[in-house]
Amino acid sequence: MKKIKLIITKDYEEMSSMAADVVMEQVRQNNKSVIGLATGSSPLGMYQCLARAWDSGHISLTEIHGYNLDEYQGLAKSNPQSFYHYLKTNLVDTTDFQEQNLHVLDGMCENTDSVCADYEKDIRDAGGLDLQLLGLGETGHIGFNEPDTSFPRYTHQVKLEEKTIMANARFFTSPDQVPHFALTMGVGTIMSSRKILLMVSGSPKAAILYQVLFGEVKPSVPASILQFHPDVTIIADEDASRIVRDKTGFGGTVYEL
Ligand code: GLP
Repeated sequence: MKKIKLIITKDYEEMSSMAADVVMEQVRQNNKSVIGLATGSSPLGMYQCLARAWDSGHISLTEIHGYNLDEYQGLAKSNPQSFYHYLKTNLVDTTDFQEQNLHVLDGMCENTDSVCADYEKDIRDAGGLDLQLLGLGETGHIGFNEPDTSFPRYTHQVKLEEKTIMANARFFTSPDQVPHFALTMGVGTIMSSRKILLMVSGSPKAAILYQVLFGEVKPSVPASILQFHPDVTIIADEDASRIVRDKTGFGGTVYEL
């Protein structure tokens, strides 16, 4: 089992460009890679770097398949706050990533259980995830796997924590517009990916990042399970890594934990 690779960057821009390098390396190794996608603020700059790389002819994503981590329930694909719309706008419209290769859980479905089971099957049939991109919730969530008493294994429905609703309210006109339910890959789905890349930015994530890396592995901190993954890279900017740096004395840029 490899150690966790922790890369500390100066700021969000450097985090984004290094994360894009990891994705581009994956695409270079296998231009038919199956990538687990993420949304939110953390990966946005990385998608912008990919768009610039595509624009200057450095990568092609035509044969890449993407499976997004999660989706709000009750938002249609066309809703500007849906994760489908985010990926359409920030990946499909800005590169040669093919829309038919973009897979996102259907937030409007009524048969939740079968949609979740089909998503698992689709990922398996595609050969499994080669690289899973992740952001980190302030609650320690990955995807929408909130703190719990056990690690959910498969794609499932979740009720969002109040803290998550408030954190994501910035994308909506008011907090009461944020859906209370979502569909998400399970922690097991995420852990089945051959590689994982976690992007962490900003001081609100500093305390949870320390717990994720150095705390006990427990379902009340879902991302702590990444300590058990055989190939994980974490790219964190200076603000997000402040508590890690204070408590460990890390002063450099690359660590193996
Ligand atoms: C959201 C998403 C996660 C995301 C996390 C962090 O609620 N469901 O997939 O990684 O919270 O979001 P952000 O990167 O905007 O801080």
